[in-house]
Amino acid sequence: MFSRGTAEVFGMRCSRMQGVLPVCGLQPLLALLLLQTVGCGVTNADAVVNMRKVTHQTISEELSTTVLLPCLFTLRPSSSHEPPRIKWTKVWGQRGSDGLQKEQSVLVAKDNVVKVKKAFQGRVTLPGYNENRYNASLALSGLRSSDSGLYRCEVVVGINDEQDTVPLEVTGVVFHYRAPHDRYALSFADAKRVCLENSAVIATPGQLQATFADGYDNCDAGWLSDQSVRYPIQSPRPGCYGDREDSPGVRNYGKRSPDELFDVYCFAKQLQGEVFHSAVPEKLSLATASTHCHALGAQLSTVGQLYLAWQAGLDQCDPGWLADGSVRYPINVPRKNCGGGEPGVRTVYNNPNRTGFPDTTALFDAYCYWRY
Ligand SMILES: *[C@@H]1O[C@H](CO)[C@@H](O)[C@H](O)[C@H]1NC(C)=O
Ligand SMILES: *[C@@H]1O[C@H](CO)[C@@H](O)[C@H](O)[C@H]1NC(C)=O
Repeated sequence: MFSRGTAEVFGMRCSRMQGVLPVCGLQPLLALLLLQTVGCGVTNADAVVNMRKVTHQTISEELSTTVLLPCLFTLRPSSSHEPPRIKWTKVWGQRGSDGLQKEQSVLVAKDNVVKVKKAFQGRVTLPGYNENRYNASLALSGLRSSDSGLYRCEVVVGINDEQDTVPLEVTGVVFHYRAPHDRYALSFADAKRVCLENSAVIATPGQLQATFADGYDNCDAGWLSDQSVRYPIQSPRPGCYGDREDSPGVRNYGKRSPDELFDVYCFAKQLQGEVFHSAVPEKLSLATASTHCHALGAQLSTVGQLYLAWQAGLDQCDPGWLADGSVRYPINVPRKNCGGGEPGVRTVYNNPNRTGFPDTTALFDAYCYWRY
C-alpha cells in the first residue's frame, strides 16, 4: 500500500514542477527528460510533505449519515519547520468555459486553530487532529445530496505543499407519497407499508432535514420513522405555517397516534437496475402498460425507482404509469410545459386539489424498470 502511495507522490511532484517551470509546457519531451533526471530523481524521503494516499475510490455514503474523508501525511523528520497548514476544499460541477470547476473552501487548520467556513459550520470536524497533527481526516455529518463532489486536502509547509483528493457520492432520495384515493389517508402502519411497496423505507427526520437543507419544500404533513409528522417549508405561506410562523424550516407536529392519517415521506436508497420511458402510438392503460413492460423483459417502475432515476438525471416530459397505479414523470431541466420551474418528479392527479390517481383506463406512456 505504501509503495503505491510513494509512486503517486512522485507523479504529483512531476506535474507540480511542470507548473512551476513554464518551459516544460512548451517542450514536453525535454521537460520529461529533465524531470526524470532532476525532478523525479530524488528519493521520496527528500519530499518535505508526504501524503499517504490510501483511498482514491469514490466513497459512497447515505443521505444524512457521517462520512470520514481520509487525509494522512508525514513530514520529513530532519527538517525543522513551522506547523503544517491544512486546507480542505470542495470541488464540483461541470467545467466551465474557463476549464475550471466550482470550488468552495471547507476548513483551514494550523496548529491548534481550526477554522470552519460558514457553509459547513456545525457539520465538519477533524476528529483525529487533536491527537495527531498529521491526521487531517475530515468528518462531514448530516450528509446532503449537494455534498457530493471531490474533496481536496492540501498540506502546506513553508513553500512546500502536497495534496490529495477524495471523491464523495451521497446516495439516496427522499420523496413525498400520498395514498391513491386521497390526501392524508395513511395510518403510521400504512405509511411504512406504502414506502416498502415503492422500493423505499419510511424516511428518518435526519433524511428529511438533509433534503430540506438542499431546498426541498412541500406543504404536506407526512409520517416519519420516529412516528412524528413533519413537512419541509422554504417559503412560509398561509396554510403551511405549521408550528412556526415566518421562518423557513421543517415543520414538526411531534409524535402522533399511529391511527391518525397523513401522507408519508419515504427514502429510496439505491437503484439496482435501470428505469426507462416506453411508449406506443395508441398509448397505454395501467393494465396494458404493465403487459408492455413485461414484454420488454421488465416491469412497471415503482415510485422509489423513478425518484432514484430522476436523481441520476432522467428527464422525460411524458406522464407514464408506475407499478402503484400512479402517473408521474421526471424533470431535471425545468421547462414551461413540463410542470413548473423546479426540477422534480411530477405527479398527475385526478382532482384539482392534488388527490386521486388517474382512472386505470386512462391512457399514458409507461415507465419500466429493468433489473441488472
Ligand atoms: C485519523 O483520525 C481518524 C478519525 O478520528 C481515525 O479514525 C483514524 O484512525 C486516524 N488515523 C491515524 C493513522 O491516526
Ligand atoms: C379532493 O377532491 C376530491 C374530489 O372532488 C374529494 O373526494 C376529496 O375529498 C378532496 N380531498 C381533499 C383533501 O380536499
